Amino acid sequence: MANYINNEEMARVSGFYELLREENAAFEAEHGRRRRALVETHGCQQNENDSERIRGMLKEAGYDFCTELEQADLVVFNTCAVRENAEDKIFGRIGILKHIKEKENPDMTIVLCGCMVQQEHIAEKIRKTHRQIDLVFGPHALYRMPELLYRSYNSRKTVIDIENTDGAIAEDIPVMRDAAHKAWVSVMYGCNNFCTYCIVPYVRGRERSRKKECILAEIKELAADGVTEITLLGQNVNSYGKDLDEDIDFADLIRMVNKVDGIERIRFMTSHPKDFGERLIDAMAECEKVCPQLHLPFQAGSDKVLADMNRRYTRAEYLEKLNKAKERIENLAITTDIIVGFPTERQEDFEETLTLLKEAEFDMIFSFIYSKRVGTPAAEMESVLSEEQKHKNFERMLELQNEISRKKNEAYVGKVCRVLVDGESKTDKDMLTGRTDTGKIVNFPGDSSLEGKYVEVEITKAQTWSLYGKMAD
Ligand code: SAH
Ligand code: SF4
Ligand code: F3S
Repeated sequence: MANYINNEEMARVSGFYELLREENAAFEAEHGRRRRALVETHGCQQNENDSERIRGMLKEAGYDFCTELEQADLVVFNTCAVRENAEDKIFGRIGILKHIKEKENPDMTIVLCGCMVQQEHIAEKIRKTHRQIDLVFGPHALYRMPELLYRSYNSRKTVIDIENTDGAIAEDIPVMRDAAHKAWVSVMYGCNNFCTYCIVPYVRGRERSRKKECILAEIKELAADGVTEITLLGQNVNSYGKDLDEDIDFADLIRMVNKVDGIERIRFMTSHPKDFGERLIDAMAECEKVCPQLHLPFQAGSDKVLADMNRRYTRAEYLEKLNKAKERIENLAITTDIIVGFPTERQEDFEETLTLLKEAEFDMIFSFIYSKRVGTPAAEMESVLSEEQKHKNFERMLELQNEISRKKNEAYVGKVCRVLVDGESKTDKDMLTGRTDTGKIVNFPGDSSLEGKYVEVEITKAQTWSLYGKMAD
């Protein structure tokens, strides 16, 4: 049974909202305006979801929000540790913040939270060399943010809370959602898989599932607020329920979510291939609200590399499961994650990644060059290929996949698709952007009043990454 943070502890933490509101009222009395906060998110959807909770807590504590670093009294960077370039980018952003704090706004409060700072060597580096940072806390301490923030306002030193509890679940943290019509819903946290390259299990703790009652109550509330599309989140949603007392798995859960009135589209991510199976394929095929979209990361095409990665499936098993899903679910769009240049990957292993891409024909891939992560088993392995060769391989792979993605998108031309409108296109104010049930981005002319609505769009043009169309009569 997953460990829940008990009511007394949640009530204790809630007590700090009042104290923060008092501090913030004093600030407002002095400056004639409220304190302004800015939350910047790095990393995956799980972090996006956490940032919505961070904003929810800050709103509860009496903050306004702004979009420019220069205007912020409080800046929160919600960080990611998955690859070195993610961390480099965050340290670059910290450099900019320190400059603003030193030159323009010495009273600015800087908070770092999330996966990157959960690593001890990073927390240590910040403590030693980045003293301008006021508060540092990891994913396990998220729910304690009001307390930690209050403590940091009243401390001259950097407050650091990266206690590793392996994780417990905190329900009822206030949330401030980014969009009105779609929402992330975490169904479980953490990961037990320990793929040899990956830092996530070390920073996010062990797998723990939320109770179905909590998940369904949240989704019903979202539906009552006008949300029609939800994405169920977990590092490996196929493990859902394994740690609960009750006999329930992810397939059961999506069948329950499928019955919630008002919800029209259900997506989920991520599925681990080792636990992906017929029960989930059946549920996807039978539940009309579950979108025909499957993200199933294969990571590497060779059995040797898969074994060294501790993925616990073979290429043949992966393809068999994928093909079953394609057969059972009409119009299924498939996406995947791939790592190029895992230390033990030889040239012939990489070639097997290419043949898998040709065989599977993914709509889109998310691909990464292997990045060494401190404390993981793969960090101790010698690299077979040179960095130069890894980059060459990576480029070759992208070239191949771009062709496949374009071909798959071209098959949409002439079709009429139901699109949920996200809003105005960022690059062209006269265009709207939205997504098909298969997750394809569609751009088309239309009025911004259609945001959050479903419209029928005839696809007229396809590019590698997106589709173009016009509203059907
Ligand atoms: N839980 C998800 C993925 C989480 S991380 C899953 O198992 O599918 C997202 C992706 O980042 C992974 O699928 C993997 O492709 C990539 N990744 C993780 N660690 C990495 C590393 N050390 N170097 C390069 N890519 C990595
Ligand atoms: Fe990382 Fe593997 Fe867990 Fe995904 S399943 S989060 S890749 S350890
Ligand atoms: Fe996500 Fe990055 Fe953490 S990918 S779980 S934010 S390490």
